[in-house]
Amino acid sequence: MKKGLFITFEGADGCGKTTQINLLKNYLENQGYQVVLTREPGAKGLGEKVREILLNYEGAVSDRCESFLFLADRAQNIDIIVNPAVNEGKIVLCDRHIDSTVAYQGYGRGLDIDRIKMLNNIATNGRKPDLTIVFDIDVETSMQRVGKNKDRMESAGIEFHNRVREGYLKIAKEEPERIKVVNSIQTVNDVFEEVKKIVNKYL
Ligand code: TMP
Repeated sequence: MKKGLFITFEGADGCGKTTQINLLKNYLENQGYQVVLTREPGAKGLGEKVREILLNYEGAVSDRCESFLFLADRAQNIDIIVNPAVNEGKIVLCDRHIDSTVAYQGYGRGLDIDRIKMLNNIATNGRKPDLTIVFDIDVETSMQRVGKNKDRMESAGIEFHNRVREGYLKIAKEEPERIKVVNSIQTVNDVFEEVKKIVNKYL
């Protein structure tokens, strides 16, 4: 049986990661791999309800409450979708995961980074991605791509999103074995060529 793999995709809003995940899914399936696609927040089922609150709730949301909602969604995703699939030898592609909480709630909102990492560890029960690809993009371009209809997180402001970007680059420096950074300001095909090169080393 093939060894399961857990690959996560990270980056700013509008960085193009969702397009790349779908391309990668087709590419891997064409080679005979069984692929499961999931996302945070918003894994199939309960996660979709949590996503709705996180992105669209219009009242006040405290930074700690926001963090715990992302973490609750993560625990559900890991237990119900990721672990069972990886244990069956499938490749799980996850649109955002632990590094989003470090980048957005840690660097972005300013919560304590070590505490976030500890809480991430509880939410995942210690499971870490085998590989993480961060799609790097400048904030101006990413906000242009997002456009006018911004959700609650996308509306957090330029300074916030600059801190998120810097956060991702810092995290990537800290864990170069797991985290690879790809420049998103290229054509979809050129970005995908880089993604394939990175992923092929793990197959
Ligand atoms: P998406 O639009 O890429 O699905 O992401 C949803 C938003 O949620 C995005 O703005 C990033 C944010 N987010 C966090 O702030 N913390 C997290 O832990 C996760 C998973 C997402």
